[in-house]
This record gives sequence, C-alpha cells and structure tokens, in this order.
Amino acid sequence: MSLPRFATRAGGAAGSGPALHVVTFGCQMNKYDSLLVEGRFVARGWRLVEAMDEADLILFNTCSVREHAEERVYSWLGELRRAKRARPDLVLGVMGCLAQRAEEEVFARAAHVDIVCGTRQFQNLPDLVEELVARRADPRSGQAAAHRLLATDPSPRVTVDRSREVYTGGPAGYLAVMRGCDLSCTFCIVPAVRGRVVSRPLPEIVAEARWMVEGGARAITLLGQTVNSYGADLLAPPSGTPRGPGRRGRPDLADVIRALQGIDGLARIRLVTLHPAYVTASLAQALAECDKAERFLPLPAQSGSDAVLRGMKRGYTSDLYRRRVDLLRAAVPDLELSSDWIVGFPGETEEDFAASEALLAEIGFAQGFVFKYDPRPGTPAAGRADDVPAAVKKERHARLLAAAERAALLRMESWIGRTVTVLVEGGAGRRKGLLRGAGMHGLPVAFPGEESLGGATVRVRVGEASPYGLAGTRV
Ligand code: F3S
Repeated sequence: MSLPRFATRAGGAAGSGPALHVVTFGCQMNKYDSLLVEGRFVARGWRLVEAMDEADLILFNTCSVREHAEERVYSWLGELRRAKRARPDLVLGVMGCLAQRAEEEVFARAAHVDIVCGTRQFQNLPDLVEELVARRADPRSGQAAAHRLLATDPSPRVTVDRSREVYTGGPAGYLAVMRGCDLSCTFCIVPAVRGRVVSRPLPEIVAEARWMVEGGARAITLLGQTVNSYGADLLAPPSGTPRGPGRRGRPDLADVIRALQGIDGLARIRLVTLHPAYVTASLAQALAECDKAERFLPLPAQSGSDAVLRGMKRGYTSDLYRRRVDLLRAAVPDLELSSDWIVGFPGETEEDFAASEALLAEIGFAQGFVFKYDPRPGTPAAGRADDVPAAVKKERHARLLAAAERAALLRMESWIGRTVTVLVEGGAGRRKGLLRGAGMHGLPVAFPGEESLGGATVRVRVGEASPYGLAGTRV
C-alpha cells in the first residue's frame, strides 16, 4: 500500500515521503524505542523532520514513572489542539508507558489524539498510521471514533532488526538486551507497563552491536529495565530450582559483556540499570575480566531502611545491598556507583530516613538521584495511605539531595590531578569550544577541544570537580 501525502508544507520537498517528528520523554529505553520507530518509518519512505509544524505525523513517546511526567505530555498535547484544528490531516500519536497505562483515558483527556499505542505494539505504528489514513479516506467511516486507533495488547514480543538501517546514534549508542521486569516493587509502574522479562538472544545482540560499531559507535549502553536480570527467561530452570535471581544454567549479562568485549572498534560497554538482587559473582567476574566494561554502575538502593525496603518489596535488605557492593568492589576496586533514592515512602519515619542518609554516606556514591514518593495508579503501594506530609517529603528531599551532592563531590574531587582517557561524545551543550565525554569510570568530563574529535579517545588531566562532573585540559 502506498502512503498518501497528508499535506504539502514548507520543508516537504516534492516527491519526498511524508514527514515524522518524534518527541521522547522518559528513560534511555524510550530513546532507543524512538530510534526503532523512526527506523521503521524511514524504511517505508518517510523522512524525519526537526520542526513539528513540518510533520504529517507527530509521535509522543511517553513516560509514566511519575505524575509530573504524564502531565508534561498532556500539556504538550494541549498545545497541539489548535494545530490539529488547522490541519485535520495531521496525525497525532501517543506511544510508550503512558499509552500502555492509560489506554482509552488518553482519548478522554485529549480527544484530538488519533493513535494510542502501547509498549509492545509500537513496531506496528507504520501499519496503524496507514490503517488510520485509509479509514479517514473511506466515506463510510464517518464517525470520529472510527478515526482513532488503540493498540495496547501487551502480549506481542518486540523484535528488533536494524541491519538495513543506517546507524545514526553517534559515538555513544543504546542497545536494549532485554525488556520488562519480573520483580514487583510496590511503588513502580514499570512491570505494569512493560510486562515480564523478555531477553534477546545473544547472537542477535552481538549482530546489532557490530552493526552499531560499523556505523561509528565507540560506546554501547546495554539497556534493560533490570539489565542484570538478562537471561532469566531464556532457559527453563531445572525442576525444583527456585525462581528468581541466581538461577544456574542460563545465559546471563556476563555472557553478553564477554561477547561484546571481543568486538574490534568498540571501546566501552555501559550498563543501565542494575537491580541489587541480581548482582552475582558471575557479573562481578566479567566486569573484572573485561577492560571495555566501564568502571561505573547505576545500582539503585532506593532506601537504607529495612522496613521501607520491605514495604517497597525490593527483595534485599540494606545489609545485602552493602554485600553486593562489596562483591563488586572486590572484583573492581576502583568502581564508581550511582543510586536512586525515594523519600517519603508510606510509613517512612525520621529513623528510616536517617538510615538512607547513613547508607548514602557510607557507600560513597559518585551520583545520586533523589525523588519524592509519588503514588502511581495501579501500583500496590498506591493502596497504602500516602502518609508522609508533603512538607516533610520536601524537607527530606532537600536534605538527601544535599547529602548526595556532598558525597558526589567527594568522589569527583578524588579525581583532581589524575589523567583520564575520555571518549569524546560531543559538544558540552551551549558552551562553545567545550567538549564532553566520559572516562573509563563513567564520570562526565568537559574540556576545551574541537568538535572534530567526536568519537576519539583523548587524555585529559582533571583540574576541577563539581558534584555533577569533572573538567580539565588535554595532555
Ligand atoms: Fe518511564 Fe517507562 Fe522508562 S515509565 S522510566 S519510560 S520504562
């Protein structure tokens, strides 16, 4: 079926395909999924445009992790109401986690949206858009409701084959090795919107990594909602083996790291995000052996209080968290760590909060991200009284954030005077003449240099530190 042109607009050169603009919210997995979607449309003859008003199709790839993330999407959609009135042919789509969670509710709050497409359906978007356009062209389907499509069946498996696309991810690209989460943290919407763990076969991951490196990637971030649970679904455990982390006889993330270590031209392997319960000796060993694996891991603790961790159903105690850090640091002594923290979880007392402060100070995190608890509809914790007053949440948030910044500054300052090998990833935002990259320890480094250095590795002597990164000069 050939795609109709919806409209002719500035930038839409004659003979070129219809135009797509994707707006991405949320985590790195969403950024990756947006690339997959763009690739599918480009393969059908579409072109990508930077300006929304040049687009025939605008897609919002959304996040549902906090209410604020959802409200930002609705506010963007509200902004587009007038554009949609002026250009009824414009197709507006909402995909990602909000789409999966809210389904019909998106149409109820934004009646001008045409397509709502969930986290396991987004690869069908080109077909859905074609179907929508065909329905609109059919005089028998006069009802406005017939001009809307909802695709949120969570059962299909997401398949990825980018081999016929051109890699556009730059020196540092993303590669999802698994999707979904088998855990049931009581505050988290992710299992509800992303489903159970589905791991990709190792040969498929290696093929995509090679394709990325041939296209210019020097660093690859291996993505998964709990990336170190990779493989949990790939091989049925022997009967009698308890479910959960640590099952034997199945491929794991260590196998993926070792396989990528062998790819010529690849300089760095990054991991996002780990769950403490799935940290194993096998993973620690692979990190120790593979010099392409960055010496940096995001390992969210969420809280230092065992009572709160139990309420969150995180599957570990603060002591087990410490032991997992010890295991990793025994294998990789110079490892840097980051953590997410939640303050104001239901029932959190001042004593519980003090336990978070203590764990944060003790571990010595190079990065800390602190969030106020925000009940998400559909999560088990949303059924509990949100009993920590807003003012207390605010005050604990400020205190823990200050503590996280102090801890990060200590780690960053320990790098002053040292020379690090930086993989250059691009310009440092609006500051002209400044480049940004990361050392083997994953910490951001800024230094003066020419943009032509993108993708190169350079030696930088660290002269300054802030809680957010390092700055220096080339040596
Ligand atoms: Fe948000 Fe979904 Fe990622 S809820 S954080 S976009 S997995």
